[in-house]
Amino acid sequence: MEICRLENIKKTYGSDEKVTPIKQVSLSINSGDFICIEGPSGVGKSTLLYIIGGLLNTSSGNVFIDGNNITTMKDKELTNLRRNKIGFLFQDTHLIQALTIEENLIFIQSMCHKKKNLNKVKELLTRLGLWERRNFLPSELSGGQKRRAMIACTIIKEPLLILADEPTNDLDEYWAEEILHILYEYVNMGKAVILVTHNEQWADKAQKRFILNKGILYPK
Ligand SMILES: Nc1ncnc2c1ncn2[C@@H]1O[C@H](COP(=O)(O)OP(=O)(O)OP(=O)(O)O)[C@@H](O)[C@H]1O
Ligand SMILES: [Mg+2]
Repeated sequence: MEICRLENIKKTYGSDEKVTPIKQVSLSINSGDFICIEGPSGVGKSTLLYIIGGLLNTSSGNVFIDGNNITTMKDKELTNLRRNKIGFLFQDTHLIQALTIEENLIFIQSMCHKKKNLNKVKELLTRLGLWERRNFLPSELSGGQKRRAMIACTIIKEPLLILADEPTNDLDEYWAEEILHILYEYVNMGKAVILVTHNEQWADKAQKRFILNKGILYPK
């Protein structure tokens, strides 16, 4: 099943086309795909993920998520699609500061019209080493714990597609490996992950590797 399709995506920042990180990118992402995108700093990897996630408009081209063309979608419809079908693991992904970690997860389940499933919340928090911290507020967690909590929030949504932009930056090797396992298991459930990473070891494990360079996505 096709989860996402990019058709001739181009992205220019500013009106005089000075910065064109994405010149022409087309890609089809299917259920079960683990895709890795590499490339030098500043080349446009985050830009591409923002476009796929409907957080940034394209200059031209179309993005389809689960058969819906998000480039022509109304804001409200797009917000709904993002909420239910796309998981974001970005550096600036936020937790709700006024809620404990456990409450953050329960809130997301209800927001995404998922049945409240406390067993799943417990299982995920335990796996991510956060069950003991479930009643802590985000401000009471370390950087790495916060990152793991964000990962829990993304998985609990059960999105079709997870967009992960260097998701293990604050994590030690043990937790970085564990997150990679969790993402692989997720893909094996018929979902898809697009991972941006500079980590060769991680990229090596992906079924499909690409390099973004001069606005074009090259298979590696
Ligand atoms: N809002 C913006 N306005 C103008 N230019 C921008 C904007 N956002 C990004 N850029 C430019 O677009 C280019 C690509 O940026 P992007 O953040 O996508 O790179 P990246 O590949 O994710 O880099 P890194 O590996 O350092 O995270 C950069 O040259 C950057 O300066
Ligand atoms: Mg980036």
